[in-house]
Amino acid sequence: MTAVMPTSPLLAIVLGAGKGTRMKSAVPKVLHPVAGRSMLGHVLALVECVGASRVGVVVGPGMDNVKTEAVTQLPAAEVFVQEHQLGTADAVLAARSIIARHTAEVHLNRDGRPAQCIVLYADTPLIQADTIARLQQALNDGAGVAVLGFHARDPSGYGRLLTAADGALTAIREDKDATLEERQVTLCNSGVMAFALPDLLGVLDRIGNTNAKGEYYLTDAVEIARAQGVRAAVVVCAEDEVLGVNARDQLAVAERLWQQRARARAMAGGVTMIAPETVFLSYDTAFGRDVTIEPNVFFGPGVTVGNSVLIRANCHLEGAKIGDGVRIGPFARLRPGAQLGPDVHVGNFVEVKAVTMGPRSKANHLAYLGDGSVGADANIGAGAIFCNYDGFRKHKTVIGDGAFVGSNSSLVAPVEIGAGAYIGSGSVITKSVAADSLALERSTQDERPGWAAKFRAMMGRRS
Ligand code: UD1
Ligand code: CA
Repeated sequence: MTAVMPTSPLLAIVLGAGKGTRMKSAVPKVLHPVAGRSMLGHVLALVECVGASRVGVVVGPGMDNVKTEAVTQLPAAEVFVQEHQLGTADAVLAARSIIARHTAEVHLNRDGRPAQCIVLYADTPLIQADTIARLQQALNDGAGVAVLGFHARDPSGYGRLLTAADGALTAIREDKDATLEERQVTLCNSGVMAFALPDLLGVLDRIGNTNAKGEYYLTDAVEIARAQGVRAAVVVCAEDEVLGVNARDQLAVAERLWQQRARARAMAGGVTMIAPETVFLSYDTAFGRDVTIEPNVFFGPGVTVGNSVLIRANCHLEGAKIGDGVRIGPFARLRPGAQLGPDVHVGNFVEVKAVTMGPRSKANHLAYLGDGSVGADANIGAGAIFCNYDGFRKHKTVIGDGAFVGSNSSLVAPVEIGAGAYIGSGSVITKSVAADSLALERSTQDERPGWAAKFRAMMGRRS
């Protein structure tokens, strides 16, 4: 997303009070993740990106986890509790105090234009910043209300946008209140509404609840404002962008659409994906150029990838920094705190967690590197294990530059292997090893010449 400069101070109100009963979940709907971030987090990132100067988040009673997520994602957000869910206008009015402050501030600025306020739903995570900018533009062009609409493949259930011959918005009619003729309209309300009204609270307070659902409909603001001579406009966007998530199948659709977008963005930025539909990105995955990703790779949150990196098939990466020229996989796992310096190789069935690896170091096969550091040009053999956990605490393994850790060694932390040291294969290393030493921990090999031939002869005579 590219940052868009606000033209007038913008207040964003994000409605997140919905219980989301159709999710069948102990977790409130808006905390369910898309691409590794809660839907609420996506919407808060959007309002931050469009430069909202104030943000109010409306939650339901007892939704402390939603409150916490809101201020974690956006510390400047102010949270309001809507005590009873009496409709979308009632939800916005739960944030009355922030609207009042915003209106007063813009007035004090002698800005000359009414304060701008945008209402979004926290269960609608795919809206783009330039779409919000188009809504703001409609307000700048003189509309007092601008509604984000879309042409619905199946309009049933949505509020219909009723327009005049000149394209102006005359009213929003909820599905349950619409006449048969109005139901034929396929231009629908996404739920995103932007206002530039000198007295927004006055308009909201005038909304009643005499309708099929007995709710206070925010959408009624259109007719009330028009009766005051205000112009209302429609801004149209693609239906996919305003997908609202009510159940888990829609959550999966949102994820699919989000992934399609993110893959396209990555490829446009110089990433090769052999089978993009099998690569899963997080909201914050960052790539350099000339990264090649083979099929079936999953990026959890917090992964940064440098230039000219090859990620081979079937890797799982999370919280990892990957330097230029690194090769990973196939079947590698990078966990939080893995930091791979330039030209590091991490091969098949290798797991790295909270370990920094210096330039050109290699762990090519079957290893666990957890908690510690590996210097430059070190070689970690097949089957090497950092024994980092004693059942209570984690301890560090430190491996110096150019060290060579033989295959199937166990390094029992805390332990330090000096620069250039060798660890003989199969050793269980419990004491630190000085630079350039060889450490061996295994019994002396006992060889009995001719034993096998004699054994076979003896067994043969018996049978
Ligand atoms: C709403 C719109 C409709 C639009 C549709 C798009 C109204 C009256 N109708 O209808 O025109 O086509 O969204 O999806 O606005 N909420 C609260 N508190 C409440 C009621 C709702 O916070 O008291 C929140 C919900 O959590 C949800 C959003 O507002 O995120 C929409 O509410 P919902 O009841 O689902 O409205 P719809 O009937 O879908
Ligand atoms: Ca809805």
